[in-house]
Amino acid sequence: MEYINNELCLGPLKKPLLPLCANYMRPIYVYDLDFVAQRYQAMTKALPGTRVFYAMKANPNVEVLQKLKHLGAGADVVSLGEIKRALESGFSPQDIVYSGVGKTRHEISEALTLGIYQINVESLPELERIGAMARSLGKRASVALRLNPDIDIKTHPYIATGLKDNKFGMELSLIPDLVKCLQTYSDSLELVGISLHLGSQMLEFSGYQEALKRLKTVYVDLQKKFDTLTRFDFGGGLGIFYDRLDVELEESLLKDYANITLETLGDLQCELQTEPGRWLVGHCGTLIAQVQYVKKTSAKTFVIVDAGMNHLIRPSLYEAEHLIFPLKKTMEVMKADIVGPICESSDFFAKERTLGKVQEGDFVAIMDSGAYGYSMASLYNLQELPLEICL
Ligand SMILES: Cc1ncc(COP(=O)(O)O)c(C=O)c1O
Repeated sequence: MEYINNELCLGPLKKPLLPLCANYMRPIYVYDLDFVAQRYQAMTKALPGTRVFYAMKANPNVEVLQKLKHLGAGADVVSLGEIKRALESGFSPQDIVYSGVGKTRHEISEALTLGIYQINVESLPELERIGAMARSLGKRASVALRLNPDIDIKTHPYIATGLKDNKFGMELSLIPDLVKCLQTYSDSLELVGISLHLGSQMLEFSGYQEALKRLKTVYVDLQKKFDTLTRFDFGGGLGIFYDRLDVELEESLLKDYANITLETLGDLQCELQTEPGRWLVGHCGTLIAQVQYVKKTSAKTFVIVDAGMNHLIRPSLYEAEHLIFPLKKTMEVMKADIVGPICESSDFFAKERTLGKVQEGDFVAIMDSGAYGYSMASLYNLQELPLEICL
């Protein structure tokens, strides 16, 4: 983030945001595709030989997807809707890894018919369902077992997925039953990989390293039984800093993550796969909103903007903090709660925040909202969805 000529700019190429508001109608998500490319290239450089499947739940904007496809990414999807969006955006079925705990018969049938590269299986009944359905369709499904090593990565509980009381993945004690099922359906199931995803917004890696070690042992054991097993998907989850934009600091975090991964798995001689979302796109987007009112009460000052929790739910849902700046630099500052129009007291972007002084009609940027922003937007209160613009 930087002001040039007193105007807030986005990304490494410092693209000005204010001109986008010339005919402002409603809140706008702005994504900087050059910034996305920079992040993708940093990640592929840090993880040589690893196939990157972009977790499109973070941001399924078609232009973002096309950019990542063009750069060489695959797609990690969790629904038929995401499969369709990925295909529309230029990915082929062989570029797609399909995760998710609740795949329906219809979704599995479509995935099998399309010939999706890899289905990450999250339960024994799902494995049985895929085996039976593939058999009746005369197909052989390429499956990876998503394993849950019961490891805490110290993130917000709503985005932790690798603990035994989470619904995700399968306990290691289930492996003998999984092996039996794979053998029962050996004509219709091909075990190609194991997979792991411990959660999101991971900024510390001791738990992650322990998980890799545990699953490496599992991988080596399973490979003795299944010579088709050639892929190790170590998931996504690498976090970003929301309280600053320091590209060097984040690239050094990436380096630590990559070193741990490659030191632990590098000798496996398999296809390494990763499923990052937030790290690739989080900083590359911002949500522009317009100040409607500055409301003063005996307790507080509220800056009421036209974007709300319906557009960006992260502060309400995860108590996430996003930096907020006026698009036009101001010398004076104010302290306020920045809130939306939605009829919930949880509809806030920041509380007791010191920010550049704004007034009715001014625009603000709610920074670092390129991941889990638009993709989690809703129609609550029948407010319109925000616009999206790619730069
Ligand atoms: C299976 C799976 N893979 C990858 C991701 C991407 O996580 P992140 O955006 O934190 O990298 C998620 C996110 O929840 C996920 O559920």
